[in-house]
Order: sequence, then C-alpha cells, then structure tokens
Amino acid sequence: MTLVGRTAAIGTLDEVLAECFAGVSRTVLIEGPAGCGKSVLVDTVVERAAAAGATVLCAVASPAEQDVPLGVIRQLVHGDPSLALPEDALAAPGVPSRVQDTQSFCAALREAGRAAPVVLCVDDVRFADDASLA
Ligand SMILES: Nc1ncnc2c1ncn2[C@@H]1O[C@H](COP(=O)(O)OP(=O)(O)O)[C@@H](O)[C@H]1O
Ligand SMILES: [Mg+2]
Repeated sequence: MTLVGRTAAIGTLDEVLAECFAGVSRTVLIEGPAGCGKSVLVDTVVERAAAAGATVLCAVASPAEQDVPLGVIRQLVHGDPSLALPEDALAAPGVPSRVQDTQSFCAALREAGRAAPVVLCVDDVRFADDASLA
C-alpha cells in the first residue's frame, strides 16, 4: 500500500538496509502510539528488504504468547526451515528455553547471513517472550 507522509522514514530504513548489505549489523526500533502506522511501516520494510535480496523473517508478538519461551523465535524460523531450532525445542513450547537452543538459532542466523543479509522483523516487540528477546 502507499504510505502517506513516510518518505523520510522509508529513506532512513533504506539507508539502514544498504548498510546491512555492506556487512554492518543494525537494529531499528519503530515507536509510536496505536494506529500511527507502525505495522504498515514494518510491512513496507519487509517488502523492500525481500525485494533487495535479503532473507526476511517475520513475527508478531502478542500478549497471549508472552509466556511461551521462544515463541517469537519459533515464528521467525517458521519462514525458513534451514533456521529451525532443535526438534525438542520446537516440540515442547511449554519447556523453559535452554542456552543451546538460543546458540543454535544464532549459529543458524550467522550461517544464513553468509549468503545474504538476514532481516528480522518483530511487530509489537513489547509483547515478545523473554527467551526470544535474550
Ligand atoms: N502513513 C500512512 N499512510 C496510509 N495509511 C496509514 C498510514 N499509517 C497508518 N495507516 C493506516 O492506519 C491503520 C493503522 O495502522 P497500523 O500500522 O496498524 O498502526 P499501528 O501498528 O501503529 O497500531 C492501518 O489501516 C493503516 O493502513
Ligand atoms: Mg501494529
């Protein structure tokens, strides 16, 4: 969709994306009141990053899943089977996360990042579970 009044924000996000293609890690936090257009801006980032050739993984955090360890990471890896967590982590959503699950995910991300930048988009990140944030 066409966003109104977001030329500067999209320009900034394109610059950050270009830096990622140059090999730099970047984090962007989009803040604002409900309804101001955060989610549609994230959707735009997803489209532009994918069109540029990045590997794009998306998740939407929610209060209902906030107590599910690694719930957000499960959503992220769902978009790319090569990044999957170990079977036991994926099969047991109620079990507390382990350091090795997180290390496994990070290792998979580093490996994926050799081929193309990996862009992780988490909408409503304030609701993300602690294990995924860690
Ligand atoms: N800059 C914009 N241009 C056009 N429509 C917008 C813009 N910002 C928000 N909207 C519209 O407003 C509504 C709320 O946007 P949304 O991204 O869901 O807000 P948020 O995630 O910040 O709560 C959506 O229907 C979206 O399409
Ligand atoms: Mg939103």
